[in-house]
Amino acid sequence: MKIAIIASRVLLGVSGVALLLLGILFWTGHALTLVPLHMLLGALLVLSMWMLVAISLHARTAMGFAAVVLAWSLIVPLLGMTQMQLLPGSGHWMIQVLHLLVGIAAMGLGGVLAKRLTAQQARDVMA
Ligand code: HEM
Repeated sequence: MKIAIIASRVLLGVSGVALLLLGILFWTGHALTLVPLHMLLGALLVLSMWMLVAISLHARTAMGFAAVVLAWSLIVPLLGMTQMQLLPGSGHWMIQVLHLLVGIAAMGLGGVLAKRLTAQQARDVMA
C-alpha cells in the first residue's frame, strides 16, 4: 500500500510539473509540436488521480474527498480536449486561464488526497 501511494505521488508530481512547464512553453508560442506529449502526460496525471482514488477506496480513507478527486479527474481531460474549440477569438485567454487553474487544482487535490492516505498509512503502522 505504501509503495502504491508513493508511486501515485511520484506520477502525479512528475506529470504535473512537466504539464505545467510544457503549458508555459505553449503559452509563450513555443514547442507547439509537443501538444500530443502534453496530452499524454495529462492522461498520466488522470491515471495517478485514479490510483489515489482506488487506494482511498481500498483503505476506506477519505472516501468523500476521493469522490471530489474522481470528479475533478474527469473535468481536467474534458476541458483539455475541448479547449481549442472553446471561445475562439479574443476571449480564448479566459479558457486558457481556466485550463491552467483546473490543472493546478487537480495537482493540489491529488496532493492533498495523497497526504491524507500517507498519514492514515502511518497511523495504521503505529497501531
Ligand atoms: C488530460 C489533461 C490535459 C489535456 C488533454 C491538455 C490539453 C492541452 C492542449 C490541447 C493545449 C494546447 C491548447 C492550445 O494550443 O490552445 C494545452 C495547453 C496548456 N495546458 Fe494543458 N492539458 C491537460 C492538462 C494540463 C494540466 C494538468 C496543466 C497544468 C498543470 C496544463 C497546463 C496547460 C497550459 C498552461 C497550457 C497553455 C495555455 C493554454 O493553451 O491553455 N494542462 N493543454
